[in-house]
Amino acid sequence: MTAPPPCPLVVAIANRKGGSGKTTTAVNLAVEWAMRGQRTVLIDLDTQGHAGLGVGLRRRPDPARTVHALFRDGPRARPETLARPTMVENLRLIPADPLFDYGTASRDPGVLRAFLRGPDAPECDWVILDTPPTRDVLLTGALIAAHAVVVPFMPQPLALLGIRQLARVFHDVATGYEQDLRTLALLPVMIDLRLRMHREIMDAVERMFGPGLLLEGIHGSVRLAEAFGLGVPIRRHAPGNRAVEDFRLLADALDGRLRGGRLQTGPDATTYLETPTPPLPHADGSDAPAS
Ligand SMILES: Nc1ncnc2c1ncn2[C@@H]1O[C@H](COP(=O)(O)OP(=O)(O)O)[C@@H](O)[C@H]1O
Ligand SMILES: [Mg+2]
Repeated sequence: MTAPPPCPLVVAIANRKGGSGKTTTAVNLAVEWAMRGQRTVLIDLDTQGHAGLGVGLRRRPDPARTVHALFRDGPRARPETLARPTMVENLRLIPADPLFDYGTASRDPGVLRAFLRGPDAPECDWVILDTPPTRDVLLTGALIAAHAVVVPFMPQPLALLGIRQLARVFHDVATGYEQDLRTLALLPVMIDLRLRMHREIMDAVERMFGPGLLLEGIHGSVRLAEAFGLGVPIRRHAPGNRAVEDFRLLADALDGRLRGGRLQTGPDATTYLETPTPPLPHADGSDAPAS
């Protein structure tokens, strides 16, 4: 009997705040790994379908061939047919169903994890999950399926609220479900280190969550947005751009955390939830829903 292929490492990109750079991070990280020759599958859990657009998907996919089919149809879905090639070698996409009806969704958030650990899982080295900002079965499903959760945030005062809200979901999932979560990492995006506010917010995040969780950031670059609009990765659109190097460093950092020798475990999920929020520049201190 041949041994089953080793299961891929699964990285969820998540933040409860919309417009925080999740999709841009998911797409460019997936492309970075694919271009290194690592077989990668990008899964778009957000019904807005932006991750698909970012890798050149132009037509609305057949709903039966989307990740949402798993949540809608459970075992009746045909998971072996879901991953489709993209224009980037080694990168496949499982697209979103923009017409997904939450009313018909399975309540079992474990379907994605079962798929990625089961016999129909696409054979690959990495799976990147782009997630919706809403707290729902899809976000919970992504966290249950993931080994690592990366939280992109723009260094603005409200970012801390979005991170805290996501950290709470991480904590609930880490303590309430069968999962293999190993690490939570915080990724500042659209950074401009000349701006005092950016430096202050990044310091505040580090104080709040402890050292070791904060990753090197992704610099702000209009070329990233441009590339997205064209449906091509930044690596192709502007290979010399600083953000390309940033995504390379991000891939190295995650590779080191998840693969290098002994797995590094993040701090106990409860630790930082109990840490009091430090005074923030311009923050009003409320825990209002981030938008
Ligand atoms: N590093 C960056 N530099 C410049 N613009 C960025 C960067 N990251 C994201 N953006 C832009 O910010 C907007 C929101 O990003 P997106 O990835 O769609 O966020 P989300 O998926 O969290 O809603 C998009 O217009 C995107 O092009
Ligand atoms: Mg998005």
